[in-house]
Amino acid sequence: MNFRLKVWRQPRAAAAGKFVDYQAREIPAESSFLEMLDIVNESLNDRNEDPIALDSDCREGICGMCSLVIDGIPHGPGKAKTTCQLYMRQFQDGDTIWIEPFRAAAFPVIRDLAVDRSKLDRIILAMEAAACIGCGACVAACPNSSAMLFVAAKVSHLGLLPQGQPERSSRAIKMVRTMDSLGFGNCTNHYECEAVCPAEISATFISRLNRDYGAASLTDALTVG
Ligand code: SF4
Ligand code: FES
Repeated sequence: MNFRLKVWRQPRAAAAGKFVDYQAREIPAESSFLEMLDIVNESLNDRNEDPIALDSDCREGICGMCSLVIDGIPHGPGKAKTTCQLYMRQFQDGDTIWIEPFRAAAFPVIRDLAVDRSKLDRIILAMEAAACIGCGACVAACPNSSAMLFVAAKVSHLGLLPQGQPERSSRAIKMVRTMDSLGFGNCTNHYECEAVCPAEISATFISRLNRDYGAASLTDALTVG
């Protein structure tokens, strides 16, 4: 099968992009959409031209990496499938196909068809942190009676969401200082908190809190100074 492709090319996030014409020639009908693009990229490599940048990993509809808009539709025509599960036999020989990246302000283009979707990961992290029920088992299990896991869960929950950004620094400072003033101990990395937490809050949130608190304290000191 042969196709005419109109592919979005954009060298980097800050650069202007545009559609560029490519010919996809002698594509086996049983190829997936990504395999068709692999063939086009091989021919670009052969001509010493920059291959089209795009994301994919599992190619089985599991990882969610293959974020293409095909003929104006995210993941292309057809229902309940990802770009990697789209096959060229669903197109007509000779079709013109428009290919561009997912379009959303929250998904900045990295290059060509590859976008940064890491904000979705941050929302998932925020959901995990939100699972804290405030039971205090982490304090009871810690040899220092530290409340760091609880505070880390609460600070991370809000700090990872877009609407939590304006007060992210002041919140981290206020919560840590309040914790200290109320007589909770310091975290010295015993990880007993994580072991007993019924909500399975990860101790990695404590590292996040330490980073946020460190950055906020520095800004605070520079502003006061
Ligand atoms: S043990 Fe887990 S759920 Fe309970 S307060 Fe601590 S972090 Fe929250
Ligand atoms: S490459 Fe993993 S879902 Fe398409």
